[in-house]
Amino acid sequence: MCGIIGYIGAEDAVDILIEGLQRLEYRGYDSAGVAVCHQGELALRREVGKLNNLIKRLAKEPLSGQMGIGHTRWATHGRPTEFNAHPHTDNANELVVVHNGIIENYLNLKTRLQAEGYHFVSETDTEVIAHLIKSHFKGDLKAAVLATIAELEGAYAICVMHAAEPNYLVAAKKNSPLLLGTGQDANFIASDVPAILRHTRDIIYLEDEQLAVVSQHQIEVFDLQGQPQDYEVSHIDWNMVAAEKMGFDHFMLKEIHEQPTAFGQTLAGRVSEGEQKLYLDELNLSPEAVKDIRRICIVACGTAYYAGLVGKYLLEDGARIPVEVDLASEFRYRRPILDRHTLVIAISQSGETADTLAAIQEAKAQGAKTLGIINVKGSAITRQVDGVLYIHAGPEISVASTKAFMAMLGALQLLRLYLAHHCAQLNNTELVAAIRELRTVPRLIEETLQKIEPQIQEISTQLLRYHHCLYLGRGVNFPIALEGALKLKEVSYIHAEGYAAGELKHGPIALVDPLMPIIALATASDTYEKLFSNLEEVKARDGKIIAVATEGNESIAKVAEEVIYVPAVPEWLSPMINVLPMQLLAYYVALRRGFDVDQPRNLAKSVTVE
Ligand code: AGP
Repeated sequence: MCGIIGYIGAEDAVDILIEGLQRLEYRGYDSAGVAVCHQGELALRREVGKLNNLIKRLAKEPLSGQMGIGHTRWATHGRPTEFNAHPHTDNANELVVVHNGIIENYLNLKTRLQAEGYHFVSETDTEVIAHLIKSHFKGDLKAAVLATIAELEGAYAICVMHAAEPNYLVAAKKNSPLLLGTGQDANFIASDVPAILRHTRDIIYLEDEQLAVVSQHQIEVFDLQGQPQDYEVSHIDWNMVAAEKMGFDHFMLKEIHEQPTAFGQTLAGRVSEGEQKLYLDELNLSPEAVKDIRRICIVACGTAYYAGLVGKYLLEDGARIPVEVDLASEFRYRRPILDRHTLVIAISQSGETADTLAAIQEAKAQGAKTLGIINVKGSAITRQVDGVLYIHAGPEISVASTKAFMAMLGALQLLRLYLAHHCAQLNNTELVAAIRELRTVPRLIEETLQKIEPQIQEISTQLLRYHHCLYLGRGVNFPIALEGALKLKEVSYIHAEGYAAGELKHGPIALVDPLMPIIALATASDTYEKLFSNLEEVKARDGKIIAVATEGNESIAKVAEEVIYVPAVPEWLSPMINVLPMQLLAYYVALRRGFDVDQPRNLAKSVTVE
């Protein structure tokens, strides 16, 4: 995710801006820039790559001024280039803006502004904001920004500076984090606490759809109608390391709780608020090309592979196209038979996994179409495939993948709708209804996490005494059983296996005894009755069952000692909800076992070698 910092005060701004951006580096970025206002003039410096490149540029071409803004960019719209780096200016270089988020209607706004004579120099959605403010500016920057954000759809956290208004900055936010800091003889704007913690511990968290006017000695907050709003000042007692985790004990828990945002960011800009349409040109798959696909092969490793298995159920059910899912490490060695009618999809958070990269190279060698579902912009796999569906999860620091997995499922849900629609399996009415349901998922994730976390903390203490666990699921939740087992294994080092529940009688039931807890995904589904029978067989052998079940299901208590209730959702949405107790359970068991949750032994975040 992008990083934002703004400063107005008695000191020179540049060093404070650079230090703040350095404190935000953990968020990941591919370019950076700063702008200052001095004696009624704006000046900016932007560089691709790491902050050191910007620091070197500033050493050669220094800036000076007591008011400034800075930005580290995690590219979404537009490649990582100097012209796409923030801050962005209007054509007269009278105002600058930095932005974190995705403006979903930026193309419509850009077309209109170009028709009105505004000249664009970047590929970004953010530049639209600069020209829009310019078009509304009549001498009052606050009014111009209010008029601008009234036209924006999607998510934004912005900080704006105008040469004609050298005594204050303007900030505003909606669905993207932004906070203010009150310091000694200075005030601050930032996307996250670490950026300004050295200067102040007194923080004001802007609410959604609020705007702030920040001068050296005053902070005023307004609603979108320009009405003054009261605000609270919170005193932060975190140390710097805790601040980067937003107060969570580990990045894994922080990233579990970032999943509503990660899922929402994956949808943002791809489903419009108004027309309920899909915008997926980045797939580079025209409706004609979709009709030409006779088979889909998904290749991935680890958690990404389990996302691919969910994808198999989603895409085959939705688009009626045959889907195979291969472990990328096996794919190229099994001599796969591919051709131009095959679509090979690589799923990878890092975009650097050696086996997945090699699988895509094999696919290209055989003339298959290729698509990447990737998190890291510009990574190796993205440079190999014909189209990329970025998952916009933001940098995932913990080795155990959680929010990236969630965002992969979001991307696969979008792909399901796109393919189904162009394979005439989903008409417009059904598409609109499906998009509407998909847009409820971020809220459902949020509500589920809040509801089940205390219970999971309790259950995790019970699991400490065991050395083995069996995870069971059916249908689209069988891969979630596999993912749940992997999560527990990789962070708590307890041996766990995921199984299709129907497989129990074919062997695993021999393992069932009082020392083998069973984690069962038993939410509402077409195969619930069959899964319930499987659990009765486990119960009859004194197996300890912990079940994830749909709210209102009382029968499950007949077989399960513990029931984790989750909200009722259509089965095709259930993987995004059912994975949540799996992630939290693994986290709290590992925590109680005292292990390094974010950096488990023997594991790396990205396996860039075979
Ligand atoms: C998942 O928690 C693990 N960190 C690991 O299985 C990971 O999913 C796998 O290495 C694939 O990584 P990628 O998504 O970056 O390709």
